[in-house]
Amino acid sequence: MKHSLMLVALLVTSSALASTVAEVKKKGVLVLGTDPTFAPFEFKGADGQIQGFDIDIARAVAKDLGVKLEIRAVGFGALMPQAVTSGRVDMAMSGITITAERAKVVAFSGPYYRSAQVFIVRGGNPGKFAWPADVKGRTIGVQATTTGQFVANDVLKPRGAALKVYDDFSAGLADVRAGRIAALIGDAPTVADLQKRLPGQFAKAGADLAAEDYGMVFRKGSDLAAAANRTLARMKASGEYQALLNKWIVQK
Ligand code: ARG
Repeated sequence: MKHSLMLVALLVTSSALASTVAEVKKKGVLVLGTDPTFAPFEFKGADGQIQGFDIDIARAVAKDLGVKLEIRAVGFGALMPQAVTSGRVDMAMSGITITAERAKVVAFSGPYYRSAQVFIVRGGNPGKFAWPADVKGRTIGVQATTTGQFVANDVLKPRGAALKVYDDFSAGLADVRAGRIAALIGDAPTVADLQKRLPGQFAKAGADLAAEDYGMVFRKGSDLAAAANRTLARMKASGEYQALLNKWIVQK
């Protein structure tokens, strides 16, 4: 009883903070939440600045609204969806996959990038792991609360894989490198980026696990989602979107 009352109070308070186009314009700033551990979509550059494909798209959304972009680093587990539903951020971009489950609690823009979940293994021996042949009895890493974890629960666990869950993706990568786990599930474009930055250390193994689309995330009912879709359409028509793909994303 006490708990449900608290929940109602929370819901009432948070809806009062709803992020809308009018409110964002009034405060003059669009607050973006992102987990900057996900190159080339969001990561800290050598200068410490958060940058990447998602950041440039968010900048364009803010510019079209006539406001400044403020970037807040939030761990993925806290970002999705609490930082958005609580109104702590107006918008989230973090290579976030559009799913029906998530769409129950947040609003998504239209898809802006086609991605996939793939197996990452230690470089030099990708032949040592194949999907679905080699899953049984192997330990496979996943990042907590990501679609990689969801698909692993659905598809790998029933085939006898043991899952190791990481809050921090880079801890999973360290375990792959050290040979402590057979493979780590990750997003295809981030793996391609890793292979470019750290040649020979990581490889993709086996077939893709699942195809997915990334979306920008807003509070449910917010008109910011439609504004983001307009920016996306404008960027596609002007060639700006393609220029950002060329700038940031390693072509598969
Ligand atoms: N695409 C996956 C998901 O939506 C993983 C995203 C992880 N992003 C990050 N910045 N760590 O669950």
